[in-house]
Amino acid sequence: MKNLISMRDLSKEDIMRLMDTAAKIEKGEIVPNMQRKLAALLFFEPSTRTMFSFDTAMKRMNGDTIIMSGTGNTSAKKGETFADTLQTIAQYSDIIIMRSSIEGAARYAAEVVDLPVVNAGDGANQHPTQALLDLYSIIKTQGKLDNLKIGLAGDLRFGRTVHSLAQAMAIFGAEFKFISPSFLQMPQYIKDDLAEKDIKYEEFNDIEGNIDDLDILYVTRVQRERFADPEDYEKVKGSYVLNKKMLQNVKKYFKVLHPLPRVDEIHTDVDDTEFAYYFPQAKNGVYARQAIISILLEEV
Ligand code: CP
Repeated sequence: MKNLISMRDLSKEDIMRLMDTAAKIEKGEIVPNMQRKLAALLFFEPSTRTMFSFDTAMKRMNGDTIIMSGTGNTSAKKGETFADTLQTIAQYSDIIIMRSSIEGAARYAAEVVDLPVVNAGDGANQHPTQALLDLYSIIKTQGKLDNLKIGLAGDLRFGRTVHSLAQAMAIFGAEFKFISPSFLQMPQYIKDDLAEKDIKYEEFNDIEGNIDDLDILYVTRVQRERFADPEDYEKVKGSYVLNKKMLQNVKKYFKVLHPLPRVDEIHTDVDDTEFAYYFPQAKNGVYARQAIISILLEEV
């Protein structure tokens, strides 16, 4: 692994190595040392979890970070090209972790600079580090990744987390239920990918009646920022609200995951149930990202 741009770039062996490394880091069995290493966090879109968990991951390993949050105070405002900004940041850092609204931006960055680049989300395309922490959360709650039944619900069209997660879980023979309003269905290119691998999926419009046979329900926010027409957003916002009553007959080890932030798609009455796992999931992001950085910088 030189970069982490898309889940499609990772083999099953790569993923299992990342899972094993994250587990060992969490248990304190390995303690990567990033002393004198700097991660550049370039976040051209807002973030709470991804940015702060990468920052935490680096600092827990005795490394440090430099952070660009938006372009407001940088020389991009004076007309500097993106390529020149990247080349410059590369002089100060050991790894670049980047979020952008532009699909393909991280792959472009990886072509421009000669150090590892991590895609922390590129538009509606990919969010591979989220998928890896999701896989780590699934292993921790289900004891395995193979042959699980996963429901992906909400904005499957613009949600980069579900694109990456569907591709990741396909490697492990998952069966999917895609639950969304018609306007927000999973893109055809992801469905074609799954069909090519003989992965079963069914599509539904309603959450109710589609939960009880699942191992994991992965709920997502409707991505308002990706809609070209605000009227389209108004039509689908609030399409689903998962609540405690809907969870009466779920499987014993069933868990609700969400990449967060949530808006209103999971009622807070779910938070205190044994099925809610979205806040521990966010914590798992630190271990997964420690593993990603350590492997890319060859410190484990
Ligand atoms: N899950 C996730 O990407 O959250 P943030 O947008 O807060 O980073």
